[in-house]
Amino acid sequence: MNILEVNNLGVQFSTQDGAVYAVNGLSFSLGKGQTLGIVGESGSGKSQSVLALMGLLARNGKASGQALYMGSNLLDMSADGLNRIRGNRMAMIFQDPMTSLNPYLTVERQMTEVLQFHKGMDRASARAASVRMLDAVKIPEAATRVSMYPHEFSGGMRQRVMIAMALLCEPEVLIADEPTTALDVTVQAQILTLLRELQRDFGTAIVLITHDLGVVAGLCDQVMVLYGGRVMEQGSARHIFGNASHPYTLGLLRAIPRMDRDAEHLLAIPGAPPNMARLPKGCPFSERCAIANAQCHDVKPALQLLAEGATTLRACHKNVDAVQAMHAEGAAA
Ligand SMILES: Nc1ncnc2c1ncn2[C@@H]1O[C@H](COP(=O)(O)OP(=O)(O)O)[C@@H](O)[C@H]1O
Ligand code: SF4
Ligand SMILES: [Mg+2]
Repeated sequence: MNILEVNNLGVQFSTQDGAVYAVNGLSFSLGKGQTLGIVGESGSGKSQSVLALMGLLARNGKASGQALYMGSNLLDMSADGLNRIRGNRMAMIFQDPMTSLNPYLTVERQMTEVLQFHKGMDRASARAASVRMLDAVKIPEAATRVSMYPHEFSGGMRQRVMIAMALLCEPEVLIADEPTTALDVTVQAQILTLLRELQRDFGTAIVLITHDLGVVAGLCDQVMVLYGGRVMEQGSARHIFGNASHPYTLGLLRAIPRMDRDAEHLLAIPGAPPNMARLPKGCPFSERCAIANAQCHDVKPALQLLAEGATTLRACHKNVDAVQAMHAEGAAA
């Protein structure tokens, strides 16, 4: 059975200027130990998708569709039910550790409280378990450092503390929202390696959100590329990295720094990330797509299987060969 099964998830905000459809028609399923990467530029709906699953949308937001955790729908669960799952069976980590760490409490206090609340442990065994988890995320001298305050840790170490805290109850699902964006490249690599090891050791399913397609390489089994609150392309990581066929995915791939390519060939996608309140009528990407035509500007492309029996989904009016040929031409220019 899938741990998490999301069907046709939508997030709608009511604002003074009318409804904003921040997430539309998102579906995926996640089994034990699997990793899904959700990729897209800032404002594409990544965070709102997962906040909806956790019941953490802003008050003007409303989720629709279905999000089954072990068969029960998170979207219509009582606050009590959600509290039993959040931080326990499903945990979340953020770009900024201080959004989930309390600056006024020692790490020990914060960690032991979680274990006392969710697992009914006594103080001493909760402390021992906390030290073990800090050890597992490779905090040196964990037994001493557990009594420190969050601000006494460096940025990378604080990120590890947050990960330790999220994994304390051995959740089935870990949602990581841009966990390495604020870190320098070396620390970023260490944190990603750590996530991979923890997944191997604990079998945690991971939803990894990032604006950088490079980050999901090597960690994710499935990849979902979002733009303007919609899925542009979705499939196995092997497909996305080897045979992407959506102009936006191809643009993101070209923006990944690579050792064998100098900076001049690093091409940012021209134009600005989407403004959800003013999306074009047709394809959300049409204003920035190099090969958009009149149909693209007028009609939203449906998300469809690439071919009968295929598992890759894609939303684009142009056929695969045409897009890949245009892309190859652009790359050579
Ligand atoms: N409280 C809110 N009210 C209205 N619109 C919102 C609200 N929160 C988020 N949004 C809209 O949702 C869009 C997607 O946001 P988000 O999921 O945070 O993007 P990202 O992909 O950067 O994580 C934003 O561009 C914004 O237009
Ligand atoms: S539908 Fe048209 S505008 Fe949208 S990605 Fe495909 S070619 Fe570009
Ligand atoms: Mg975000």
